[in-house]
Amino acid sequence: MNVTLTINGEQHILTIEPRVTLLDALREYLGLVGSKKGCDHGQCGACTVLIDGQRVYSCLTLAVMQEGKEIVTVEGLATGDTLHPVQEAFIDNDGFQCGYCTPGQICASVALLEEVKRGCVSAVTPDLHSPPQLAELSEAEIKERLSGNLCRCSAYNGIVAAVQQVIGQKPPYPVAAVMVSESGNN
Ligand code: FES
Ligand code: FES
Repeated sequence: MNVTLTINGEQHILTIEPRVTLLDALREYLGLVGSKKGCDHGQCGACTVLIDGQRVYSCLTLAVMQEGKEIVTVEGLATGDTLHPVQEAFIDNDGFQCGYCTPGQICASVALLEEVKRGCVSAVTPDLHSPPQLAELSEAEIKERLSGNLCRCSAYNGIVAAVQQVIGQKPPYPVAAVMVSESGNN
């Protein structure tokens, strides 16, 4: 069947079987391989993309269900040569090692920022009637809100620091200082 998908602002007409997941449509039919296939069944978050501004595991949704929606993948976050602030922050704070989980982590972080702006609470929000503001978002909130994205390299400190940098919390999580301190070199 034919399906028209709007991805990163461009329309693509695909002829695919109804059973094709959005992740496979992106990677196998369109060559958009930024979104990664980690587990392929909703457990790792490596395939996270944005659909109408909401984060979605693209391995768990069918491509044919996304007609008429705005899909944004990691390839669509930058503006020309200018990286998205979240992408810049991941670089600045060593928010990755092998990089396999990183596209999903970045898309999830972009969505996290919008969710907080909309007043969404999380499982660790102390007062459900008082959603946190971006500037005061705690480390526990950031970790909880990114808990659907696993990193096998355990670059979590840098990932949290990247989000902290984007929301203007300074200094970000002192990754380098912690590493030095844990190695007993200070
Ligand atoms: S590949 Fe989709 S959640 Fe792991
Ligand atoms: S950077 Fe390697 S899995 Fe996250």
